[in-house]
Amino acid sequence: MDGSHMNGNGASAPFYLAQGDECSLFEAAYDNNLPLLLKGPTGCGKTRFVAHMAARLGRPLYTVACHDDLTAADLVGRYLLKGGETVWVDGPLTRAVREGAICYLDEVVEARKDVTVVLHPLTDDRRILPIDRTGEELEATPGFMLVASYNPGYQNILKTLKPSTRQRFLSLEFGFPAPAHEVEIVASESGLSVERVKPLVRLAGKLRDLKGQDIEEGVSTRLIVYAATLIAKGMPVERAIRTAMIEPLTDEEDVKRGLTDLVTAVFG
Ligand SMILES: Nc1ncnc2c1ncn2[C@@H]1O[C@H](COP(=O)(O)OP(=O)(O)OP(=O)(O)O)[C@@H](O)[C@H]1O
Ligand SMILES: [Mg+2]
Repeated sequence: MDGSHMNGNGASAPFYLAQGDECSLFEAAYDNNLPLLLKGPTGCGKTRFVAHMAARLGRPLYTVACHDDLTAADLVGRYLLKGGETVWVDGPLTRAVREGAICYLDEVVEARKDVTVVLHPLTDDRRILPIDRTGEELEATPGFMLVASYNPGYQNILKTLKPSTRQRFLSLEFGFPAPAHEVEIVASESGLSVERVKPLVRLAGKLRDLKGQDIEEGVSTRLIVYAATLIAKGMPVERAIRTAMIEPLTDEEDVKRGLTDLVTAVFG
């Protein structure tokens, strides 16, 4: 399957190989004005998926990386001094609401509760954004869609969304692509041949089996792409694997040795 699509402006969407029915699910959410939450481990394709779908639907995309210092004003906007005058400057959420764009809140669990509350009137059927500071109440322009993502794995139990927030979103769980898919993705992203990518993906599968025991998170698709990219540029395989698929996973010497044994088992 070819993941690239032309959008309304004729520009090609970034490559995304679907794992299942997630593209039609995204379209159904978009068509019905429903917000969408993507859950999944780091580097499994969530951001790429959103970029792909935004291009496919011909919508501009505003991405916000959430963190615990992010304020409601960072999302909605604020008054700024410009040449001696105070002017209102829209934040990314407000711009998306006005333009009918897709607003993507990455790592939304990192955002403070007062930030997530801003989303509530936007994510029920009112689809409005009240801007307290200006007294405006914006109705979302058709085409506006809210997408959020987070990694349920590594944060502690306390860092989840409130049920009243979480239950406003359709939710889609992402995992790592099936091996045959992952080979295709890595080959396409790195330019390394399918035959040379296959053992990297096999190794990744073995490393992922160790998740929760020796390592916190399984090796991501992103890291396999890094390794394959280095190999395609001429770096010796062992060096590329060490720097892209072993060192990023752990700092413990004995765990690294164990992981290196797996490399030997796969590559001989
Ligand atoms: N299905 C896919 N199609 C095409 N490329 C993919 C796919 N899945 C993963 N990738 C590749 O993996 C890389 C990492 O994916 P992405 O940045 O979307 O991860 P993520 O899930 O957003 O991770 P994080 O939670 O860390 O932000 C992409 O840049 C792309 O090269
Ligand atoms: Mg991402």
